[in-house]
Amino acid sequence: MTDPTILVFDSGLGGLTVHAEIVALRPQARYVYLADDAVFPYGGMAADVLIERVCGLLDVQIARLKPDIVVIACNTASTLVLPRLRATWPGIPFVGTVPAVKPAAHHSASQLISVLATPATVARDYTHDLIRQYASHCEVQLVGAPKLASLAEAFMKGESVADADIAREIESCFVEKDGRRTDHVVLACTHYPLLLDAFRRVEPWPVTWVDPAHAIARRADHVLVEAGFPEEPHGSASPVQVGFAEFTSNRPPGAALAKALEARGLVWRAMDERNGDRRVSQSAALR
Ligand code: DGL
Repeated sequence: MTDPTILVFDSGLGGLTVHAEIVALRPQARYVYLADDAVFPYGGMAADVLIERVCGLLDVQIARLKPDIVVIACNTASTLVLPRLRATWPGIPFVGTVPAVKPAAHHSASQLISVLATPATVARDYTHDLIRQYASHCEVQLVGAPKLASLAEAFMKGESVADADIAREIESCFVEKDGRRTDHVVLACTHYPLLLDAFRRVEPWPVTWVDPAHAIARRADHVLVEAGFPEEPHGSASPVQVGFAEFTSNRPPGAALAKALEARGLVWRAMDERNGDRRVSQSAALR
C-alpha cells in the first residue's frame, strides 16, 4: 500500500498543533492542511451555521482530495459535524478532537481543574457530559475565551501579541479554594498550545497544561493501521515529506506564517477553483 493521504482540518492555524504530532508518527504520509480562514473564528458561530459550513466545505474537499483519513483538529466543530460526515463518507475514517477532561481529572491532586476553550465549546452539551462522566469528583471551571484563538493566529503570523492580553483571557482558569489551587488546565481548543510559552510566562502559579494533540495523533495512527497502512518503522527519524497548506480565503501567507508552515513541512497552495472552492469561499464571504 502507498503512504496515506491525511487531511487535517481546522478553522485556522490551531490544527497545526495536531498536524505536528501526526507528522512525528508518520513523516512519510501525504498531508493536506486545510484552514477555513475565510470564516474564522468558529468559536462564536451558531451550531447550525457551523454544521452547514463545515460539512458543505468538507464534502467538496474530500471529493477532490480523496484522503485516507480526515482529522477534524478543532474542538468547536468536532462533536457537531462528525455524525453527518461519517454518514456521508462511510468509507473514510474521521478522527475528532474533544476536551481532555478525563486525563486532567484523573491526574489532578487538588481536584480543581479548568477547561479553557472557545465560548462555543464551553456551551456544548458534549463538554458538560464529559465533565459529568469523568470529573464528578472535581470542581471544574469552564472558561470560554473570546479572543484567545485570534491571538494565537496573530502570533503565528508574526504580529506582536501582548502578554497582558493573553493573561486577561486565561486569568479565570486560576482558582484558589480552601487552601487548594487549580493544578490542571485543559487546552480545549487546538489553537491554544501555540501560545504555551506565553501561558507559562503569565501563569500566576505553575499548572499542568493538558494538550491532547499527541493522543489524537496516536489515535489517527492507530486508525490508519486498522485501515491497512502499516506503522512507519522509523517514525520521527525519517525525513518529512512536504505537504500542502490550503486556506479557504485563498490568501497566500505572509513571510512569518510561510516560515512557520515550512518549519512544519508545509507549503502554501492555492485551492483548486475548478472543484467548487471558489463557490465555498464566496458563500462564506456573503454571510
Ligand atoms: N481551533 C478551534 C478549536 O479547537 C477553534 C478556534 C475558532 O475558530 O474559534 O476549537
